[in-house]
Amino acid sequence: MLVPRHVAIIMDGNGRWAERRGLPRTAGHRAGLRPVRACIEQSVRHGVGVLTLFAFSSENWARPVTEVGVLMQLFLESLEREIDELAAQRVRLRFIGAREQLGAPLVERIEADEARTRHNDGLILVVAVAYGGRWDIVAAAQRLARACRDGRLEPDAIDEARFAAELSLAGLPEPDLFIRTGGEQRVSNFLLWNLAYTELWFTDKLWPEFEAGDFEAALAAFGERERRFGRSSGQRGAEAC
Ligand code: IPE
Ligand code: IPE
Ligand code: MG
Repeated sequence: MLVPRHVAIIMDGNGRWAERRGLPRTAGHRAGLRPVRACIEQSVRHGVGVLTLFAFSSENWARPVTEVGVLMQLFLESLEREIDELAAQRVRLRFIGAREQLGAPLVERIEADEARTRHNDGLILVVAVAYGGRWDIVAAAQRLARACRDGRLEPDAIDEARFAAELSLAGLPEPDLFIRTGGEQRVSNFLLWNLAYTELWFTDKLWPEFEAGDFEAALAAFGERERRFGRSSGQRGAEAC
């Protein structure tokens, strides 16, 4: 079966999972850690090279300050608890997003964990925190504009590859498979540039209910897709994955 090199997931539905049980929304965020572990294990098992998880969007800052606070604390605690195991599995961690918006303890943690796992050769685990697809594109445009202003770059030298090299996922294969739990069929400002030719897969299951078998169902669905990248069905060599 054709395995995606890169799977990107919008982990949605934590709040509704908790509310349906009469629990505070933050209980749903806590319950969302188990499927994160399951997806990492499944990615390693099936030979997925890169797993990108959307943990907190640019727009999620608009949530009540208490929910945001719990989420940030949860990120910090989870990293502290899981980093040894991740490092033992040779996982390489990479965080994308506006990290200057995060608190100093979390930024220190992120940078220490990235440095510690930098030379690992296993799964590349990308965690998107304070991330937005528009933020990513604007930040890339600013870097290119500065390079042009400083005479280091000619505007005509900016092509798609040069632009992509400034984006957060630079150097990684584009996502082949996008998974969104929680029933909504939208991109919610995730990887806007990078999802151009990604296969989309949605499930009504809420994130805390997502299991290894669901991940495998998404991989199986991906294996059935015909990726044409604009070519016609009869053309050979269209499947770049
Ligand atoms: C996803 O679950 C987690 C974050 C966005 C941080 P939600 O908190 O969005 O859960 P629902 O969609 O409200 O159920
Ligand atoms: C997307 O979920 C962001 C994350 C899962 C981190 P949201 O719950 O924020 O998305 P919308 O608001 O329903 O589009
Ligand atoms: Mg949501």
